[in-house]
Amino acid sequence: MFTAEDPPESLTPTRRKGYLCARLMRTPARIFIFSTLGLGLALLVTATATGIYGYTDAELAGPEQPIAFSHQVHATKLGIECLYCHTAADRSQHATVPAVSICVGCHQWVKKGETEGSAEEIAKILDYHQKGESIPWIRIHNLPEYVQFRHHRHVRAGVECQECHGPVETMNRVYMTKDTKLRPHSLWLPAAKLEMGWCIDCHQKREATTDCVACHY
Ligand code: HEC
Ligand code: HEC
Ligand code: HEC
Ligand code: HEC
Ligand code: HEC
Repeated sequence: MFTAEDPPESLTPTRRKGYLCARLMRTPARIFIFSTLGLGLALLVTATATGIYGYTDAELAGPEQPIAFSHQVHATKLGIECLYCHTAADRSQHATVPAVSICVGCHQWVKKGETEGSAEEIAKILDYHQKGESIPWIRIHNLPEYVQFRHHRHVRAGVECQECHGPVETMNRVYMTKDTKLRPHSLWLPAAKLEMGWCIDCHQKREATTDCVACHY
């Protein structure tokens, strides 16, 4: 590494030592500086990448709902079918969120779950039911009015709920997942689901319509 040329003859012995010393220092110093920069850059890249892709339920959790309803508990642990609650997804335009009566069907018997505080959450269900009110769930996926979208056409064509909504069955609180594909029209950043490019992309892949009037009329 140090094929150092000899220090110039003109230097005094002490300065000759200093010269050699400086050369010796320089290479490790350089290695240190460049590796620090390199490592820093690598960390930055990783941080950005995990920032974009390493979502966790907690970080990306959707809005706090009036009752802490968990899909993880109901869809995975208890294995209840999506269509048991979202009864219209294969029959009409809207998937629909279940009415209180569907919850009451089970929760008139099940008064508490395994999580701490679950008894209070479940009590709220019976409260809404007694008052004859529906639970004011906060809507997460919502298209503008000028877009036509029909669930049943997609569900019956064999498109899985998860292709559009992500792994809902693992969520304790539903959120809108990102589209993880990087495309030029989104400046190589992950596009939001429900954007026109997201619909078109799948339609092109599956040879479904890309006619403007199919979605806008
Ligand atoms: C026991 C009933 C139940 C089951 C089973 C269930 N859901 Fe839900 N789902 C709900 C309720 C209640 C909400 C509204 C509260 C919320 O967002 O958590 C909801 C909300 C959603 C939303 C968000 C709706 C919005 O506002 O945009 C999606 C998407 C969804 N569910 C998909 C699924 C999928 C996919 C499955 C099957 C893996 C499933 N659900 C199973 C009850 C259920
Ligand atoms: C088919 C039966 C069934 C239906 C329908 C059902 N639940 Fe449950 N739910 C259960 C059972 C069983 C548990 C206890 C599971 C556990 O904690 O292991 C539970 C647990 C819960 C909990 C506590 C969760 C926790 O973290 O421990 C809440 C809150 C809840 N349900 C809300 C709802 C709401 C709101 C609806 C209607 C949209 C609903 N459930 C529909 C069976 C049902
Ligand atoms: C091709 C994509 C796609 C598939 C497949 C899909 N959804 Fe959706 N979902 C959407 C879009 C888009 C919206 C917003 C619709 C709107 O605003 O009109 C939505 C909205 C919802 C909502 C909110 C209430 C409603 O009716 O609009 C629920 C609940 C839901 N989806 C559940 C499901 C379930 C359960 C399945 C599987 C049986 C499913 N979705 C399959 C794209 C999809
Ligand atoms: C993951 C794939 C996928 C995504 C995402 C998707 N679609 Fe589709 N879409 C399909 C398929 C497959 C068909 C063909 C269905 C058939 O043959 O009946 C279709 C058909 C349609 C049709 C024609 C059938 C009808 O209902 O009249 C419309 C309109 C439509 N989609 C709207 C949308 C909109 C709006 C979005 C975005 C919000 C969207 N789709 C996102 C797969 C997708
Ligand atoms: C597969 C369904 C689909 C098709 C086909 C489609 N669009 Fe869209 N379009 C959408 C959706 C979904 C949105 C809403 C995007 C959003 O909210 O970000 C949208 C939004 C738009 C907007 C409003 C954009 C804005 O920024 O406000 C225009 C304009 C538009 N579309 C024009 C067109 C034209 C022109 C065509 C035909 C070349 C077309 N669309 C084909 C689904 C579609």
